[in-house]
Amino acid sequence: MAAISREVFVDPSPEEATGQASKLVRKVIGEAVEQRGACYIALAGGTTPHALYLRLAADGVSGRVPWQDVTVFFGDERNVPQDHVESNYCMAQRTLLDHVPVDLMRVYPMPADAEDLQAAAAGYEQTIRHIVPDDGGTTPRFDLILLGMGVEGHTASLFPNSEGLAETKRLVTAHFVPMLGRHRMTFTYPLINASRNVLLFVTGADKAEPIAALLGDDEPARSRLPASGVAPTDGRLVVVLDAAAARGTDLPHP
Ligand code: 6PG
Repeated sequence: MAAISREVFVDPSPEEATGQASKLVRKVIGEAVEQRGACYIALAGGTTPHALYLRLAADGVSGRVPWQDVTVFFGDERNVPQDHVESNYCMAQRTLLDHVPVDLMRVYPMPADAEDLQAAAAGYEQTIRHIVPDDGGTTPRFDLILLGMGVEGHTASLFPNSEGLAETKRLVTAHFVPMLGRHRMTFTYPLINASRNVLLFVTGADKAEPIAALLGDDEPARSRLPASGVAPTDGRLVVVLDAAAARGTDLPHP
């Protein structure tokens, strides 16, 4: 099995880390389109990705990003309508998708407010299987899956004590999240770890403890974090942090 390639970038401020993440996203998109004529990405929700999308929209104005060749999915979604203020799709639309020349017919919101959530998750998985190339394998390979991380180490909507953590067959699932008291729809590890590139983008002092555990060598502490299950099988894991989030690590942080 190919070794996991992991790179960690630490920038002094959230703004500089956001710039670093934007540069990496634009690079992956450009290379994918140049090499394969298309780019398949999955976006995340939350405040950290929010800042990145605003930056990508601003950086993308230069026209150098081939957004017209990008197909957009979502790595997770809340159990709300797509026009709800809590919706990851709604946030990405307002901050990025309405401001770059992406073909809206190639943007696939996650149907996380469907009546039958598991059936909707299966349908979304079929759409991914139909559209995203699998490179001759059995699992569609995104060019980039963007992830954030919560203070308790959740990523996408893989939260501690949620059923999706143990999912090894379904690529997309819906489950009840005990700590939220709500349902979520989410990519599972098999789909995340088939990606060519995974960008884990985390900023803020409140994430210093889980980041220290995630990047540290205390295996019991690390394995308690859902984010520790992100290990691309034959892809690249890039972690972008600001100094505050990296504070508890032994990484050189400016
Ligand atoms: C969501 C996200 C989630 C998010 C992390 C980080 O739906 O909330 O997909 O996984 O990325 O919770 O969120 P913050 O950047 O707001 O801390």
